[in-house]
Amino acid sequence: MSIEEEIDRKRKKIDELIEEFLPEEEGYARTVAEAVNYSVRAGGKRIRPMLLLETHKLFHGAVLPEAKALAAALELVHTYSLVHDDLPAMDNDELRRGQPTTHKKYGEAVGILAGDALLNLSMQVAVQAFRRPSEPMIVAKAIQDLYDKAGIDGMIGGQTADVLAEKNKKEIDKKELDFIYDKKTGALIEAAMMIGCRLAPESREKDVAAVERAAKLIGLAFQIQDDILDVEGIEELIGKPVGSDYRNGKSTYVNFAGMKQAKKDVADLTEEAVGLMMPYVDEDDFLIRLMRFLAKRDH
Ligand code: IPE
Ligand code: IPE
Ligand code: MG
Ligand code: MG
Ligand code: MG
Repeated sequence: MSIEEEIDRKRKKIDELIEEFLPEEEGYARTVAEAVNYSVRAGGKRIRPMLLLETHKLFHGAVLPEAKALAAALELVHTYSLVHDDLPAMDNDELRRGQPTTHKKYGEAVGILAGDALLNLSMQVAVQAFRRPSEPMIVAKAIQDLYDKAGIDGMIGGQTADVLAEKNKKEIDKKELDFIYDKKTGALIEAAMMIGCRLAPESREKDVAAVERAAKLIGLAFQIQDDILDVEGIEELIGKPVGSDYRNGKSTYVNFAGMKQAKKDVADLTEEAVGLMMPYVDEDDFLIRLMRFLAKRDH
């Protein structure tokens, strides 16, 4: 089986897992439930839940139910971040995951509410990890990881610095760019891998910290590749508009480093992350092949 086929199989399983948690479309509030389901079912690569589950398997061998709940919760947080990222007040984009963005289809008010509802739903899903109450402190820590990485010290902090720099046409330096990338994208990828590790009863705090460091590099590489695809990607493949950053006058890694260096950095950061994971993996483990695949992704 090719790596693409392996990824596809795992993605379908993750889709089924998330589907279990989606709301019924009924009653006076049905529109927001429809908008939530639309945003989630539009697709997406499901990279974050995949990294969570694969890291978990690396440390535990099998997948515990609490890892499934946290994987679904994480993808719901990520999907909410995209719904809000596309709003007119943010990146003002009309295409996401190959379909009209949520606010384009349902209007801005429902777009905002759908994002809120996704965040709320993520918490309802995350706490289901307590259903198997053998290790409540570990589950509590994992839930804390998720919302720490999603919050002001994580994704929201990065998104804020990102949009304010753009709106104020502020010249940012490399230090601020690194902050933005580390937070807006790195944080949820860190959450993915560290939660996967943490939920394995076998893992120790120092393993969680090592995995977090590797994930930080993967997150940075992932966002640089996203910027590259904003320039060189094909709309039908990436499922979002090409050239959005340019139209928004956004300072990206590609502007700072140049295309050639950006590509080299994606490859180098990925290999550095692989190096950090080496105490825990074999070179041909799926997680490592996935990391390397992400550095070459075309969508
Ligand atoms: C897009 O994330 C936003 C970034 C952080 C770069 P993905 O590239 O994972 O988007 P989906 O989930 O596959 O749509
Ligand atoms: C998005 O960064 C990061 C988050 C949504 C948290 P981008 O604005 O570059 O993501 P895309 O390109 O719209 O997916
Ligand atoms: Mg953005
Ligand atoms: Mg965007
Ligand atoms: Mg982008």
